[in-house]
Amino acid sequence: EDSDLFPLRSPVVCILGHVDVGKTKILDRLRRTNVQEGEAGGITQQIGATFFPVDRMRPLCNRASETLPASGYSDVPGLLIIDTPGHESFTNLRSRGSSMCNEAILVVDIMHGLERQTIESLELLLARDAPFVIALNKIDCLYGWKKIENAGFFETYASQSQETRDHFDKLFGEIRTAFQLRALNIALYPEAGDDHKECIPVCPTSAHTGEGLPDLVSFLFTYGQKHLAADLRLKPQLDATVLEVKVIQGLGTTADIILSNGALKEGDTIVVSGTDGPIITQIRSLLTPHPMKEIRVKNEYLKHPSIAAAIGVKICATGFETAMAGSPLRVAYHPEEIPVLRDITENELQDLLSSFDREDTGTTVVASTVGSLESLITFLKTINPPIPIANVAVGPVHKNTVTKASVMLEKNPDFACILAFDVPIDEDAEKLSDELKVPIFKDNIIYRLEVKFTEYLDGLKQ
Ligand code: GTP
Ligand code: MG
Ligand code: NA
Repeated sequence: EDSDLFPLRSPVVCILGHVDVGKTKILDRLRRTNVQEGEAGGITQQIGATFFPVDRMRPLCNRASETLPASGYSDVPGLLIIDTPGHESFTNLRSRGSSMCNEAILVVDIMHGLERQTIESLELLLARDAPFVIALNKIDCLYGWKKIENAGFFETYASQSQETRDHFDKLFGEIRTAFQLRALNIALYPEAGDDHKECIPVCPTSAHTGEGLPDLVSFLFTYGQKHLAADLRLKPQLDATVLEVKVIQGLGTTADIILSNGALKEGDTIVVSGTDGPIITQIRSLLTPHPMKEIRVKNEYLKHPSIAAAIGVKICATGFETAMAGSPLRVAYHPEEIPVLRDITENELQDLLSSFDREDTGTTVVASTVGSLESLITFLKTINPPIPIANVAVGPVHKNTVTKASVMLEKNPDFACILAFDVPIDEDAEKLSDELKVPIFKDNIIYRLEVKFTEYLDGLKQ
């Protein structure tokens, strides 16, 4: 078929799972980096991205039970792996990461089984119908484990003592049962077969010894090649999402972008959603970390006149201060497109804000991104009793947010308050909140906002 002649882009792979199951450490082992040890409290708090070129991964994959096909023109050129936090506060980042991926790794700590955020991640993947592999990590913690650095799983399993293999079999059996209770079948890769919806493949791994990583990485490449080719054919349409917005010394406010499809070049006019309206600006430079380096860690950057998907890229441009993480990035190829894209972007935020059912009498809710606002609204509506919502906003809490919320003082003073999820609060807003007696409840964990609000209501009744 003619289309077979078009090259494939790299799949975007998201790594998800409960806190401390070893997501970052697995990537560190593959990159030969030490990102995890530099993290505050050893906890990932930001979404990240690393590009792994196929040629750098081949030597490792040669030790897998199913090695990569010989290189050819229609190869997947690499993997763009998105690291996510497992801590409960970051549901919005797990959701953002999983929404961008073509395939995923769900990491389970073999010693702990299915933990809370692993289940949450599993549900995200099932809801999005994303294919995934389970990395059953920390096998080096099994009783009497004798490591063979970077070995494929079957090689190292065969060389373990009977007691060690029994320990593995017992824990694997328990985890398989936990999945069965959720009506899901799992089996070791490649025994799981080719229908990954019928049976989810499992790669037992150790991020400390590298064992099982050959199988995990070869699975991701092979699956991409065999099953995602239609999705991975390079298309001209642009698909780019703002991952993070941050100030970098010497570069100003930059935006880290996941470019999933299409291409970007220096000088392109781009349109992105901002908390004060659409941002229209020009790409000053396109920077990437070196291959096998994490974009969220300050690196030596490579400068590109243009760049094609799939890749994590840092864009330098003026006006990014109010850019909203999680929103799409668009390019105006002709000047006439600028007003059109401005309207689309403007309406997107307004449409979304007005699509939420609101009551005449209710609280005011504010969140950092559109995605986290959606999570917060869903949460407040599904708890029992639901918390009514009258106003919604994205971005920091300003004075005018307090003024809006204060309207409720006349209608129902119980609801004259602000629930602020993961956003800063202006000094002016703080002051007005004290003056008007419109409390602001602030937290970066969704359910704690409910607790704070409920405690406040209980306090009012006494
Ligand atoms: P969050 O990003 O905070 O959700 O955690 P994470 O899933 O990225 O886990 P991380 O890489 O931070 O690892 C957590 C701890 O587990 C660290 O102390 C690691 O050294 C340890 N660890 C990770 N993988 C392994 C492994 O395969 N074997 C052993 N023994 N320890 C591991
Ligand atoms: Mg991590
Ligand atoms: Na961690």
